[in-house]
Amino acid sequence: MKRVDDFRLRFGKQELVPIIIGGMGVDISSAELALEAARLGGVGHISDAMLPTVSDRRYDTDFVKVKLTQYKYNLTNSDKTDIKFDLGQVAESTRLHVGNTMEAKRGSGMIFVNVMEKLTMNAPKETLKVRLHAALSAGIDGITLAAGLHLGSFAMMEDHPRFRDAKLGIIVSSLRALQLFLRKNSRTNRLPDYIVVEGPLAGGHLGFGMDWAKYDLLTITQEIIEYLKAEKLDIPIVPAGGIFTGSDATAFLEMGAAAVQVATRFTVAKECGLPGDVQQEYFKASESDIVVNGVSPTGYPMRMLKSSPAIGSGIRPGCESYGYLLDSEGKCSYIEAYNREVALHPDEKKIQVFDKTCLCTHMRNFKMWTCGHYTYRLKDTTRKLADGNYQLLSAEHVFKDYQFSTDNKVALPE
Ligand SMILES: Cc1cc2nc3c(=O)[nH]c(=O)nc-3n(C[C@H](O)[C@H](O)[C@H](O)COP(=O)(O)O)c2cc1C
Repeated sequence: MKRVDDFRLRFGKQELVPIIIGGMGVDISSAELALEAARLGGVGHISDAMLPTVSDRRYDTDFVKVKLTQYKYNLTNSDKTDIKFDLGQVAESTRLHVGNTMEAKRGSGMIFVNVMEKLTMNAPKETLKVRLHAALSAGIDGITLAAGLHLGSFAMMEDHPRFRDAKLGIIVSSLRALQLFLRKNSRTNRLPDYIVVEGPLAGGHLGFGMDWAKYDLLTITQEIIEYLKAEKLDIPIVPAGGIFTGSDATAFLEMGAAAVQVATRFTVAKECGLPGDVQQEYFKASESDIVVNGVSPTGYPMRMLKSSPAIGSGIRPGCESYGYLLDSEGKCSYIEAYNREVALHPDEKKIQVFDKTCLCTHMRNFKMWTCGHYTYRLKDTTRKLADGNYQLLSAEHVFKDYQFSTDNKVALPE
């Protein structure tokens, strides 16, 4: 019987364990988690979401304070068009996080950065270009383009000296999205080095509508593998979303996938960026505690625990400090929802907003508990302690369980 370790992900001459830990913003897929994946011979992701605040927390910078001081005058103004990012600050925070992580890298694996196009930052093109270039300059092994179609992102990197040397990948959720990308990108004469095919059971934002349950990862992966074969395009395919055991992963590798991307099982690893009390919420969740809803201002459905403190929270929009979801006209649907509720309840000190959430502030504070569909199975991957909590796992334990397990078994920790 085959297991994941019988396969290898190949990039040219380099061979890796075919396990990629997916990007989880904001600093949930921490440097520590990504470094473990690389040390064990696989691929880890850091995320470039909200790096100025991540940098403040990790490297003692004061990027958010500086931004807030600059825009304090606007705090009670519902028009956020003034709020712009200092591109130097964005570049510096990327350089710090990517540079420090790459410097700490050991082992034969790789570290990629997850870059979401939907973080439009009130100047989508300018800010994305700076983020991509800064990550390449700081020595990242690869960039995974996420949350968006990224039809112009490769072209933005064309003039960087590492454009052809760094690994560049995309995340798609349908053959149609892939075809569109390949068509628009053909001008750069550079194919993606890998394609993550993300199905509807993933965590974070979904590349589907609210009818996500009609789709399945296996069918989409098969369609994409057949299409690439017919087009004679040899690009590694990496399915993601709901691959919970080593046997699930092996089944995809046997059908021709080059690797798998997994995330949910690592949310309860010690190296993961989630606070310990939130990790216990993930362990304790049952299937009915997990929802896909439309509260994210990005417009994409998002999967999360129903008990996320972000749901219903009516905090003042945090754009003066953050502002990552402001579109090219300085708008965000949470601001509209918030203003509507304030107008409806003029005398209330604490208002509630249920249709949208302030994603920047809540992701930054770990109050938006986004998770994969199979989060309710996490309790079966560890031991329950006498105090009713569950034992956290090491990233190495989870990684090796994917790598070596068979028969749909999950190894419990020592
Ligand atoms: C907590 C959490 C946060 C996530 N955040 C992101 C993100 O910021 N960007 C992204 O492209 N994918 C994100 N994802 C998706 C993962 O990278 C991955 O592709 C997917 O969850 C794999 O499915 P699995 O969790 O069932 O293993 C997130 C997933 C989880 C569980």
